[in-house]
Amino acid sequence: MSVLASKLLADKEFAAKIDALKAKYPEPRTALLACLHLCQDELRHIPAECQAFIAERLGLAPAHVRGVVTFYEMYSEKPLGKYLLQVCKTLPCMLAGSEVLLEHMERKLGLKPGQTTKDGRFTLVTVECLACCDGGPALMVNDELYKNVSPERADEILKELE
Ligand code: FES
Repeated sequence: MSVLASKLLADKEFAAKIDALKAKYPEPRTALLACLHLCQDELRHIPAECQAFIAERLGLAPAHVRGVVTFYEMYSEKPLGKYLLQVCKTLPCMLAGSEVLLEHMERKLGLKPGQTTKDGRFTLVTVECLACCDGGPALMVNDELYKNVSPERADEILKELE
């Protein structure tokens, strides 16, 4: 287990937050997504030990929790970079130039989709529709959505993150 995961699991405040989420929902299992977000926000991923911890706290089977983590693209079992760069690869964005944008970002960052820079700053991934199909190519950086992102605009966005 990583040091960060150990610290999080030993943190009474983290356990209290999980319990508070559990109490907020009518069924413990309906608090699962929120608990997973909480973990991922803290660690930039959801390792197996944290999945087991959350499963126990919510009274769920660990396999169920893992199934949810691996089903949704927004969760990761591998550590993500500080900035998660999500390029939409669905058809409307592709027709608007998302392939050109992706190739540009791959070259600029020296990454292929799914990879993270060695300094842990950037993870590049491709995703399905980001729900702004009239504004392609769409790029999401953590929780922020950018529309009509040209390669030049991507350079500006990355510079703002430095
Ligand atoms: S197709 Fe890219 S946001 Fe919908």
